[in-house]
This record gives sequence, structure tokens and C-alpha cells, in this order.
Amino acid sequence: MENKVLEIEKEALDALDKIEDLKSLEEFKNKYLSRSCELTNIKKSLKDLPVEVRPKVGALANKVFHELNEKSDERYEELYKIELDKKLREEKIDVTLPGTYLPYGKVHPLTSTINEVVEIFQHLGFSVTSNENSPEVETEYFNFDMLNVPKEHPARDVQDTFYCKNASNVVLRSQTSGAQIHAMKEKKPPIRIISPGRVYRNENISARKNNLFHQIEGLYVDKNVNFGHLKGVLQEFIRLYFGASRPTRFRSSFFPFTEPSVEIDVQCIMCGGKGCPTCSGTGWLEILGAGIVDPNVLKGVGIDPDVYSGFAFGMGVERLAMLKYAIDDIRSFFNNDIRFLKQF
Ligand code: PHE
Repeated sequence: MENKVLEIEKEALDALDKIEDLKSLEEFKNKYLSRSCELTNIKKSLKDLPVEVRPKVGALANKVFHELNEKSDERYEELYKIELDKKLREEKIDVTLPGTYLPYGKVHPLTSTINEVVEIFQHLGFSVTSNENSPEVETEYFNFDMLNVPKEHPARDVQDTFYCKNASNVVLRSQTSGAQIHAMKEKKPPIRIISPGRVYRNENISARKNNLFHQIEGLYVDKNVNFGHLKGVLQEFIRLYFGASRPTRFRSSFFPFTEPSVEIDVQCIMCGGKGCPTCSGTGWLEILGAGIVDPNVLKGVGIDPDVYSGFAFGMGVERLAMLKYAIDDIRSFFNNDIRFLKQF
């Protein structure tokens, strides 16, 4: 039995000498130093040996076991160091090399303008309506009838509004104001909503006009809402969006769904108010229409105008962006010229 142990020792030491990597060392350990290896089995079966040889064989088996264990640990240290050195050498990186260039996209200036305006109104207590409550394909009912727009009003003309050929009374909305009606039909006052989206008009395209543009509608209905609230909210919006020093003016106006009505002009950024082609020589550009909600509109949606009142506004997103970033042609937003878009 002693010879058997010495044989294992010799065989194992020879094998260990030949090991060149950690993986083979792992296999070596499984073969010679595991719970089911030959040496362990010998130690387990000592009780079957004659009493006089038991201590000798036992001591030898233990000695060999410890010796192999120690040697394999030493070998492990060596191999580990060698493999680590090799890895460090191979995976060396030159931190002075230029990085890989990944082209990245940016938010479209119209989207970022909408986001900015929405955020301002959210701070002022307004919330954004759901998409179902602001469809781009509308009926005349929401786009005109419920907004008190008379049947013979020029805005209803096919010169101004896109009508659906196959379904009568269906239009591409010409304004976001229909969202006011959707909001008031869905919810009782108090109502404080804004509703951004696309609108369509049958216009001749120019530097100032496009068939498709964006508006942000706003509506506030509650008890005792008056013109002072309208002025306060919109002035605060202008201050937050354009800064306190941008000259602004309120001009009286007319809309079928508000009475009284105003338009707000902001000084032209291109000429600083001197007058240029962008502002048709006036020095001002209109950014929004607004007014006190007409009692007829409230009645139409079943809100009692003797109890409630409100104000509404609709602003042009392209105008807001043009006046902030000095963009002199509305078509720039839709051409998708990377050189233009990259600047934002
Ligand atoms: N819908 C009007 C337009 O497109 C703007 C507006 C909205 C005016 C709400 C008053 C109240 O010109």
C-alpha cells in the first residue's frame, strides 16, 4: 500500500511539472486532490488494513496529500501571475488615441419649443389634454360650429380650410380651438388645460406661411375668471419665454368664440422693431390670439355662463421659435436641412 501511495506521489509530481495553465491545474486538482481521488480513497479505506501498517500508510498518505496541495498552490500563484501579466500586456490601451465618433440626433426646434411652452404652463397650473381630445382630423362641428363660427364665415371657405372629399363636414383642423370644446364636453369646471398640436390651412406657401403649422391652445374656465387673469397669465408666459425685456403689445381683435378678444404682438427680433420683410415693415409679429370665452360657446357645451366664465388663447409655435432664435423663414422648420437643425 505504501508503494501505491509513493507511485501516486511520483505520477502527480510529474503531472504538476507539465502544467502550463490554470485550466489544467484545475483538472489536476480534481484528479489528485478531490474528495473522490485515489489518495482520499486510500485514507478512507485504512480501516481495512492490518493494524500494524495502518499508522504508517495513513501518515504517508497525509504527507503526500499536503505536499501535493502545497505544490499545487505554489503553482497556482505562479500561473496566475503569468496569465495576468499576459492579459495586461495584450489588453493595453492607448488612452491618447482619439475616441470613436458616434453621430447623434437632436430634438427638433419645434418640439423643444412646444416642450418649453408646455412646461411654463404646467408651472402656472395647466395640464396637457390627451390626444383623443385633440384630433387633427376634425368635424366642422368641433372646428367651427361649437366655436360660434357662423356658416358664412370666410374661414370655412375651401380657400382657407382643407375639407375631406369623401366625407362631408370632415376637415383637417384649421386651429387647435376644437380642443376647448372636447375639454369642456369631457369635464366640468374648473378647467385649466393646454393642447399643443398640428393645424392645416389652405394657404399659398411663403416665408411666413405654411400649409401645416403648430398651435398651442389654452383654456381656463372657473367662477369669476376675468380679463385681468388672461392678461396676468399671458404676460407671465411672455416674461418666462422671451425674458422681461422683450417689448410686447396687446392689440384688440375679433374671434367668433371670444369676446372681448386680443392679439399679442412681440417686437420683431430680425430688425429690433425698425421694420423688415419678416415683419412686413411693422416691427411687430403676432404670436397669439386670445379672449374671454363667448357665453354662446359655454352654453353650447352645457356650462352656465351666468355662473362660470373663462379665457382662451391659441399661440403659433413656429412664430414663437422664429422670434426667439431669429429664424426668418417658416419653411426652414420643414425642409429637414441638417445644417439648419444642427444649430439647436
Ligand atoms: N384659434 C385662433 C386662431 O387660430 C386663436 C385663438 C384661440 C383666439 C383661442 C382666441 C382664443 O387664430
